[in-house]
Amino acid sequence: EDIGVVAVGFSGGQCKPGVDAAPSALIESGLLDSLRDELNYKLHGDDQVHLYTDLVPAEDPDYRKMKNPKAVSAVTERIAEQVYSHSREGRLVLTLGGDHSIAIGTIAGSAKATRERLGREIAVIWVDAHADINTPETSDSGNVHGMPVAFLTGLAKDDKPEYFGWLKDEHRLSVRKLVYIGLRDVDAGEKKILRDNGIKAFSMFDIDRHGIGRVVEMALAHIGDDTPIHLSFDVDALDPMWAPSTGTPVRGGLTLREGDYICESVHQTGNLVAVDLVEVNPSLAPELDHGAHETVRAGCSLVRCALGETLL
Ligand code: ARG
Ligand code: MN
Ligand code: MN
Ligand code: MN
Repeated sequence: EDIGVVAVGFSGGQCKPGVDAAPSALIESGLLDSLRDELNYKLHGDDQVHLYTDLVPAEDPDYRKMKNPKAVSAVTERIAEQVYSHSREGRLVLTLGGDHSIAIGTIAGSAKATRERLGREIAVIWVDAHADINTPETSDSGNVHGMPVAFLTGLAKDDKPEYFGWLKDEHRLSVRKLVYIGLRDVDAGEKKILRDNGIKAFSMFDIDRHGIGRVVEMALAHIGDDTPIHLSFDVDALDPMWAPSTGTPVRGGLTLREGDYICESVHQTGNLVAVDLVEVNPSLAPELDHGAHETVRAGCSLVRCALGETLL
């Protein structure tokens, strides 16, 4: 089986440096080797980490309160092309972030390719402590990593190509095909957006009530059989005990085992078309002795599970 790898060293969707170093850290810890040697995938894509420095303008003033708007728009447009060209070839696409703004590109690319290749709309399973569905107007921070789902679903739009106007219907995701798992830090404006649009979301409360097995079953039932799935996994969905090195940690999260279970179950559907792993920031939580190392290890485990590693 063939995988397209896109290593994205980009941090402009938020303000903390370091998340751009995650792809190298994941690769250096042997992630791609284990996919090749143990899971027997054929890997495509230049082994290099893309920094996209040529796309970051010298001047990038706030626009509709968004920070680094031109840089994030241009970089995600390029990522969409990279993911699209792998996905169009029928490869499963693995994107290593970078902050979560990059999902604007990964999901736009796989949505477009899957429409063309299979004539199908993709579903997205968004595993995260956060909903990342702020519009520029509801966002308190102005950080675009809190907005990708709003742009992807068309709840946020702009006509100007340099400010995400490059996103067309073929790139978009239906709110009916979106399901969240792991939420526990959702802004008031985002709660209203989720409610008003009837978006399916399983919070940590739901996981405590039903258990992870039942929640994943319900999430997959919502999507329906035989639907191509894009899994976008923000490492901050995990409890900081397992993934301390991330920009916006929130207590009360998933255990690593629960995260792995989500990934294993999604793999088992046979419908996975793309996986993102984002928000690993090896330069954060240095006070915890092995914080960065543990977070990178957790990230590798999630990816391997999504790509078919099993316990037995
Ligand atoms: N809701 C907050 C915001 O909009 C936090 C978003 C955190 N997102 C993330 N991808 N870690 O700024
Ligand atoms: Mn998050
Ligand atoms: Mn996120
Ligand atoms: Mn398999």
